[in-house]
Amino acid sequence: MKRFPWWLLSYLEGSGFLILIAIVAMFINAGVTSYLAYFVKNIVNSVFVNKDEEMIRLIPFILVALILVKGIAFFTNYYIMAYLGQVVINRLREDLYEKVLRLPMEKFLLESPGSLISKIINDTNLLQDFASRQIATFLRNVLTAIGLIAVVFYQDFELAFIGLVALPLIGYLISRIGKKIKKYTAKMQDRLAVVTGHLFEGIKNIKEIKLLGIEEKFSTLFREDNAKYFKEFLKIKKVEALYPPAVELLASFIVGFLIFYGGMRIVEGELTAGTFFSFIIALIMAYEPVRKLGQNYNKIQQSVAVAERVKEILDLPDEYELKDGREELESSVRKVEFRDIWFRYPNSERFTLKNVSLSFEAGKKYAIVGKTGSGKSTLVSLIPRFYDPERGELLINGRDIRNFTLKSLRRKIGVVSQDIVIFRGTVRENIAVGKPSASFEEIVEAAKVACIHDFIVSLPQKYDTVIGDGGIQLSGGQRQRIAIARAVLKNPDILILDEATSALDSETEAAVQRALDEKFKDRILIAIAHRLSTVINSDSIIFLREGEVVGVGKHQELYESLLDYRKLCDIQFSI
Ligand SMILES: Nc1ncnc2c1ncn2[C@@H]1O[C@H](COP(=O)(O)OP(=O)(O)O)[C@@H](O)[C@H]1O
Ligand SMILES: [Mg+2]
Repeated sequence: MKRFPWWLLSYLEGSGFLILIAIVAMFINAGVTSYLAYFVKNIVNSVFVNKDEEMIRLIPFILVALILVKGIAFFTNYYIMAYLGQVVINRLREDLYEKVLRLPMEKFLLESPGSLISKIINDTNLLQDFASRQIATFLRNVLTAIGLIAVVFYQDFELAFIGLVALPLIGYLISRIGKKIKKYTAKMQDRLAVVTGHLFEGIKNIKEIKLLGIEEKFSTLFREDNAKYFKEFLKIKKVEALYPPAVELLASFIVGFLIFYGGMRIVEGELTAGTFFSFIIALIMAYEPVRKLGQNYNKIQQSVAVAERVKEILDLPDEYELKDGREELESSVRKVEFRDIWFRYPNSERFTLKNVSLSFEAGKKYAIVGKTGSGKSTLVSLIPRFYDPERGELLINGRDIRNFTLKSLRRKIGVVSQDIVIFRGTVRENIAVGKPSASFEEIVEAAKVACIHDFIVSLPQKYDTVIGDGGIQLSGGQRQRIAIARAVLKNPDILILDEATSALDSETEAAVQRALDEKFKDRILIAIAHRLSTVINSDSIIFLREGEVVGVGKHQELYESLLDYRKLCDIQFSI
């Protein structure tokens, strides 16, 4: 089989012994099944032909014993294979998740979260059946079919030939159908990814949907895509449903003819009744695994298609392979320098940052201002290397930033961004996410710097109060301060506040600022803010317009030299 996902087997490392037991059990199972068909000859001949009383007494015991052995072998094989299959899928799912988290940011711009989630959940679900059942059933059926066909030939060569003329035909049918199913499956799973994507979007944007009253529009879109999925699903089922009756019909022609032809030979005395019955039973029994093999084969084709999709993700180079540097950034960051930086998002034509040259030095406070969409957030996102510039250089302490390992670089940077995530957990855990080893004193100190300590101690369980989904919900300003406490606890060399105090009242904002100024006075502090009152006493204000730096300087200098900046100030201060 082309492109069979052999790579999945690598997840079975260390399970050699179990695999061996499963294989032995499989052989026993197939062997006993075939022997049972062969044994029919003894039953018929000793019971009906020879009327041998001793054998009549013995046969029931032999039969039960054989079935018992077969049962134990089946159980062992089925259970171990299911176990091993699940091991494979668990490890695969873990690898997928790990890979997704390590993908470069660009990948998330190009592929929707819904589709990524679908690949992890829906595709691995399909593979689960493959790994834990289909493969085992397939092997068991192949062995059983071989054993039974051997019995068929052993009993009567000539009849066996006639009996098995249909096999190549069945084989042809199976492979035709398998190809179709494989093709439809890839489409079906794509449709399913779209459907899952809808669910994800809907739940994420539930407030907007309600406010805009567009529940129906969303439901309609969902219904349309769900129907498309349904259509692909039905195509597969149609092919699947056609297969068993086709095979059975074919088999009935052959068996019918054999009964006629074999019967004639018994009448003429060329064949014993025992041999004939054993032959017919073995043949009928052999059709069963062959028929199942077909269905099995189709399912396996389906899984091969899905395995390819999953493999595509696993094979994507992760961020560390693509752009990790070799050097640890050990020394503290004294200077960050942008040199003629040009940047555009991978899904966009025009440049978001144009020819940006700037430098940030330790011990100074910077502010970035400009209209929304002017590129402020983009500019700071280059420092932790979420994205790399297309042209130009970014230097830290005079060395190209790409020399440093991503982990050591990111350890030095704290970012409080516009969208803040509160995880379900206690306040203490939420502040310490980036530094689980932090002592309680450190956590409290960070909370004090972020001016959130007083609020926390007013909560019922203080630092052990559960917040986030299912716990106490925080206001925008409280969330922002938790995020600031998080960043402070990380104790970075560069602290970036991207509209991080926008939801605070002016008084609290000023208090947070004073505390941060004091705490980070010998480090690099970059604030992006709309409220000019918060940036007015920065050491350097950077004014961005459509991705270009149009002015750098202290408030007074910019106010005098840059018309845009003056307009901005006049609007805000005249209120
Ligand atoms: N993920 C993205 N993909 C494509 N374009 C983006 C992305 N994020 C931002 N942009 C574009 O880049 C420009 C600057 O955005 P941003 O840096 O967020 O501005 P600001 O923070 O100043 O409001 C905007 O025109 C925006 O549309
Ligand atoms: Mg922004």
